[in-house]
Amino acid sequence: MDRVSLYWKNATAEAVGDEHGVTEKELKQIAPRIKTLTKQMNDERKAGKLRYRDLPNDEDMIDSVNREVEHFRDKGCDVLVVLGIGGSALGNIALQNALNPYTYNLMSDRQRPGPQLFVLDNVDPDQIKAVVELITPKIKKTIVNVISKSGETAETASQFILFRDLLQAKLGKKYKENILATTDPAGGTLRSICEAEGYRTLEVPEGVGGRFTVLSAVGLFSAAMCGIDAEALLDGARDMDKRVKDDDVRANPAAMLAAIQYILNEKGKTMSVMMPYATSLYSLADWFRQLWAESLGKQNGLTKKNVYAGQTPIKALGTTDQHSQVQLYREGPNDKVITFLEVERFGQKLAIPSSMKDVPALQYLAGSNFQTLINSEKLATEYALRESKRPTMTVRFPQISPQTVGQFLYLYEVAVSYMGGLLDINTYDQPAVELGKQATYALMGQAKYADLAKKIQPTIKRDSSYLV
Ligand code: PA5
Repeated sequence: MDRVSLYWKNATAEAVGDEHGVTEKELKQIAPRIKTLTKQMNDERKAGKLRYRDLPNDEDMIDSVNREVEHFRDKGCDVLVVLGIGGSALGNIALQNALNPYTYNLMSDRQRPGPQLFVLDNVDPDQIKAVVELITPKIKKTIVNVISKSGETAETASQFILFRDLLQAKLGKKYKENILATTDPAGGTLRSICEAEGYRTLEVPEGVGGRFTVLSAVGLFSAAMCGIDAEALLDGARDMDKRVKDDDVRANPAAMLAAIQYILNEKGKTMSVMMPYATSLYSLADWFRQLWAESLGKQNGLTKKNVYAGQTPIKALGTTDQHSQVQLYREGPNDKVITFLEVERFGQKLAIPSSMKDVPALQYLAGSNFQTLINSEKLATEYALRESKRPTMTVRFPQISPQTVGQFLYLYEVAVSYMGGLLDINTYDQPAVELGKQATYALMGQAKYADLAKKIQPTIKRDSSYLV
């Protein structure tokens, strides 16, 4: 199997100096902590506490996904609408963009390996209306996959009410046949609705936070519907699992990734940029942003209060952001560690024609290809950043395939577990998300939050003396 690898020399003191890079001494110091964390994670896993680690081995889960894919493909599905947000959407988007062509939704029904896919992860009325108008003529062959563990998330619930009504209005009693709900196996509002109305269902794995569910039914159903080899994704994740069990930081890419981020965070690199040099991998950076931000941004530690831990994840795109962000990354505050995603072999090399070989300034392009150009630009940016003493790492994909993407996802999931362990925080909760959710319920008039609604009123009242 092609293997994803981590190249970290340009994050070392040797490359960018002691002040901005990781020293040998620091790596030696962190090695015993990595050993302890590895053992702790292995023990937690054995005790059934790290359920995301075993998703790639969950045969019942993949069987249930395959069963539903077969069912809906047999029924006929030209459009798949996924309703979800956060961990119930970002993985779906990342898989689709990484592994299907850029023009997937524009292809003819015959060319496309599956239905058109729309993942609605916002409640922007213009966006939703545009999708509704587009799919209404194809409503008989539209499947709505609503993904919500609780079923109470305002964004997903409101979208679901709208799409359910649309299906009902157009299909009558048969509307249920066009709905698949992915939700908590036992409880929650959406599970009760499923039971009352009789939808087909898949399970959000118990004990796994949304941001760790991409390799479960949450992420895999839409991927497999759209022709992505879900078994190969899991194969890749299983392969990475073998590599991230090692308690030697130098042999374990997830541990090394976390160790470097941790040491550099301590040295003031409080921003972590992910910069893929492949448009198709850009949404992986969105997925990474949620994983890193929600897992690590914590006020309180496990043993200390008010630690305000975290590292701000940022996404950038190579080469596009060389013409936007790199000026800041080289000359602005030296507070970032940049991780490039590099692809050795693209699906296409794509030759650059020689027709302008007589224009002196453009001669160098004649006869080359876009793969060489994009990878040279990556190396050039890496070099330029190193010259400015900016630490970088590279996650290298030999090629973009379900196996390598599966490895990448698993690599980062385990890396964030190590990073949370090093920061001594709870990696798996997200307490700060609650207040905003509750305030929304209050502002939207949910009776249970009437007191909060009163409390909010003075803060949302606009004071005209601050209006210009
Ligand atoms: O990572 C998480 O836990 C969140 O992003 C959730 O996935 C998101 O809030 C959606 O929650 P739910 O699946 O309950 O609708």
